[in-house]
Formats: sequence, structure tokens, C-alpha cells
Amino acid sequence: MDLARIGHAGLRSKVMSAEAAAALIEPGSTVGMSGFTGAGYPKAVPLALAARIERAHAAGTPFRLRLWTGASTGPELDGALAKADGIEFRLPYNSDPIARDKINRGEMEYIDLHLSQVAPMAWQGFLGPLDTAVIEVTGIKPDGTLIPSSSVGNNKTWLDRADRVILEVNRWQSPALEGMHDIYYGTALPPNRVPIPLIRPDQLIGQPCLRCDPAKVVAIVETDSPDRNLPFTAPDATAHAIAGHLIEFLRHEVAKGRLPASLLPLQSGVGNIANAVLTGLIDAPFENLTAYTEVIQDGMLDLIKSGKLRMASATAFSLSPDAAEEVNADMARYRGRMILRPEEISNHPELIRRLGCIAMNGLIEADIYGNVNSTHIMGSRIQNGIGGSGDFARNAYVSIFMSPSTAKGGKISAIVPQVSHVDHITQDVQVLVTEQGIADLRGRSPKQRAEAIIANCAHPMFRPMLADYYKRARAGAYGQHTPSLPGEALSWHRRFIETGSMLG
Ligand code: COA
Repeated sequence: MDLARIGHAGLRSKVMSAEAAAALIEPGSTVGMSGFTGAGYPKAVPLALAARIERAHAAGTPFRLRLWTGASTGPELDGALAKADGIEFRLPYNSDPIARDKINRGEMEYIDLHLSQVAPMAWQGFLGPLDTAVIEVTGIKPDGTLIPSSSVGNNKTWLDRADRVILEVNRWQSPALEGMHDIYYGTALPPNRVPIPLIRPDQLIGQPCLRCDPAKVVAIVETDSPDRNLPFTAPDATAHAIAGHLIEFLRHEVAKGRLPASLLPLQSGVGNIANAVLTGLIDAPFENLTAYTEVIQDGMLDLIKSGKLRMASATAFSLSPDAAEEVNADMARYRGRMILRPEEISNHPELIRRLGCIAMNGLIEADIYGNVNSTHIMGSRIQNGIGGSGDFARNAYVSIFMSPSTAKGGKISAIVPQVSHVDHITQDVQVLVTEQGIADLRGRSPKQRAEAIIANCAHPMFRPMLADYYKRARAGAYGQHTPSLPGEALSWHRRFIETGSMLG
């Protein structure tokens, strides 16, 4: 047993196996786990818990848990527990394919929340009590405070709210992470809420470690396992084209004097396109950039290494396996250039509005009026969740959404007459980018938006169909402010469900 990372003498007696720790979790209870986009999630206790649940199913005494996390996690957590049919209820964001299938089959309840709102909602109390927190940390200090690992997420709140705490101390996480976190303890519920004193992305307003009452710690499990994310796919021609249009837009905004030469703090969403845009910024003429965002992905790392990005503030890493190993081995190099904060701070609307972030997020589909669906395939099947996209889109200085103009090999248009589900209303969507081009929707009325989106963003295969729909809506709609044909607007989705193609 290597106790070097457990500095608090009294807590050393709590070290046990993952199986023994998992046995302490009550069937049917609510468990708050660490983890955000495949970083900093517990890796041993959830697996042991899944094995226990499988045994319970086999013995005819099945049980399930209510699971709260920071956001998505890894296969050892969501994947294993979903496979064991151990999750009754899940919040606030999931991207695990097994859990996704269960949710879409109606076998798991899921609430998909704005990430900035999760901690305040937990404090408001209507989500119910939190029985156990299972949190991965890099180490435990002699005074019992916890050195966070590669994500902060909702850990502060879970540690404060839970009746009991199980810690996983992961030796794989670099000890040089100590000092790279900023845990702010000044949030409160109304009427006691006060301004959060952050006015620059590189500012530290909190403390480096998480507080935790040692009396609540019932188990400590030592692990030595890497964070697991899927590798990013190399940017293809579509991703390059989207990045090119977006960077051209930013250059234009600088030339017009609407953005400073070093831009404003960048927020970049999840996914391959977002990553490609960041990589594209390496060759763009902007220097001294900053990021105030949710996750630090490979592209952001490349920007830091290139010297273009001065610093990045986030709540988690979201790195490919190779990049995670590289950062972990060389963490000290990134000190002062990366700060990880609780997600209620990384995604806080007040701070995003104050800093004036440039928000860049992916989408599933957008309609001709600029409403965006980020979450639901054909209006009913959840893909991931809204994550932080709403926190950033509504409060950004400029809110950009980007996507290839088609999906599923060209059978689906990402630009449709009407989105089948709305996550971001037209007022929160200022710029739309596809590989076809860019539609700057700021200052445009609904009809002007429709004309720009159809002309600039739709794929040529679908453009005539959209133009025809819009023309008929202009002729026959009940109103001419946002002309639409309700009976027909969702027929594209129905056609895909019935024939496998929006083209028919
Ligand atoms: N209709 C049907 N399916 C579609 C679609 C559409 N219009 N657009 C995409 N899809 C499917 C893809 O085919 C793919 O399916 P597959 O996994 O079966 O191959 C899946 O959706 C994901 O699409 P992909 O092109 O790989 O997307 P991505 O990695 O660029 O992610 C989102 C796009 C919208 C799913 C992602 O950005 C997301 O989850 N956003 C919401 C959360 C968010 O923005 N967080 C960041 C805030 S800080």
C-alpha cells in the first residue's frame, strides 16, 4: 500500500478495497460522483458497484441508484453502471452510448440541465438529499483538504452536500496538478447571493484545494488508472472549411473594430468540429488569446503550445488518450496557463456576460429562423445533452453555432424548416457556420435570417427544397413575421423516420 498521497494521518485507516467501499453504498440511494468529459471520474468504485449490482440482479434482489455527476464520465462509470442496469435516474449530462440507449428505450430517467444550474439546484433541495459522494482526487493534504484531479465539475457541492464521502486517490494523476485549481466558496442562494469577484479569465478568486470534513470520509480507495476519452478524429475537409469560415469571421470583426486583436475569451464546445476550429486558430493572425470555457481539449493544448493562447480557464480536461498522457507527464509546464474551476463558476452566466466570451458550439440541426437543436435526434432521441452550450450561448458577446450542413452521409439536412426540438432560441444564436458558409444573424429580422441561412449555410442538395418551402410560407403562412407552414415544417423529419432520408 502506498500511502504517500494520503497526508492526513487519521484518514489512512480508511483505506480499503474498491469492493469494500462499494458495499457501503445503500441500494436505491443518491450518489454524486466526480467526472467531467472523461476526466477525473472515479474508476474503481463504480466498477465494483456495477459488479455488486450484477450479482444482486442474478440473485433476484436487483437495485438501482440515482446518479449525479459533473457531466459525462468514462466507460468505467456510466458505461459499467448502465450495462449492469444500475442507474435509475441520471443528471446532468451523458454521452455514454450504453446509457444513451437505455435512456432512449425509456429504461432510465435522465434530466439534462444547464451545467451552471446544477450546483444551485442541488442546494435549493428539490433534487432530494445526496447520500454519498464518490470523488477522485490527486491527493489528500495533512489538513484533510483534497487536491482535485483533472476535473472539478460539481465536486465542491457533492462534498459539501453528501452525508458520506468515498475518495479515490488516483496515483496516475500528476502531483503537479496541485495549485492549478481555483475553488471558489463564495456562492450562495438568494437573498444572500453576492457578485462573484472575477473580472479576468486568469484571475484566482478561491483556494487550490477542496474542503472536506474528514469525519464524513467512510472509505479511501487507491487507484492508478488513466482518464479515458475517445481520440479526436483528424479534421477533414468539412471541418477545415468550417474553421476557415469562422476564422475569417473573427478577422472581419477585428477589422471592423468590434473585437480586439487578441479577441475576447474563447469558449469552445465539445466534439470534433470544435476541436478542429481551435487547431485552425494556430495559423490565424490572433495573438495573446485567452479562453474562458468548460473543457480544455487537444486543440486548446496545441494553441497553448504554439504560444497563441496565453491561458485557459475551464472545469476539466477533455483530452485524447495521447494528449492526456503528454499533459500528465509535463503538467508543471502548464502551471499558470491553465486553471480548473467548479462548473458553477466556469459556466456562470454572470461571468460569461462580464468577460464577453466568444461562444463556439456544435449543433444537431438549426432551422431557417436560427433556432438550434443541440440535443435531440428527430425530436425525441437524446444524443448527449445541452451541457454548457446554453450557459454560454445566451450570455456570450457573440454566440456562434457550427456544424456540417448534412448528416448521415447526406441523407439529413442540418438546416431544416423547423427544428424538431429547441435548445437555443433564435435570440441566442447570432452566427451560424457550416462548411458552405456563414450567416451573420445579428441585427436581422426573421425573414432576413431565413434568407441568409438558406443562401449561406444549407447544402446545395437541400437548398432548393428549403427555398421552395420558404417561398410557399411567404405566400401562404398565417402570419408574415416568421412565415411557417405548421403542417409541413416537420415533414422532413417524418420523411427521414419513414424512408431513411430527408430527400425522400
Ligand atoms: N440529424 C440526425 N443525426 C445527426 C444530426 C442530424 N441533424 N447531426 C448529427 N447527427 C448525429 C451524427 O450522425 C452522429 O451520430 P453517430 O454517433 O451515430 O455517428 C451524432 O449525431 C454526433 O454527431 P457528430 O457529427 O459526431 O457531432 P459532434 O461530435 O460535432 O457533436 C453535438 C455535435 C451537437 C452532438 C455536440 O456538440 C453536443 O453534444 N452539443 C451539446 C453540448 C455542448 O454543446 N456542450 C459544450 C458546451 S461548453
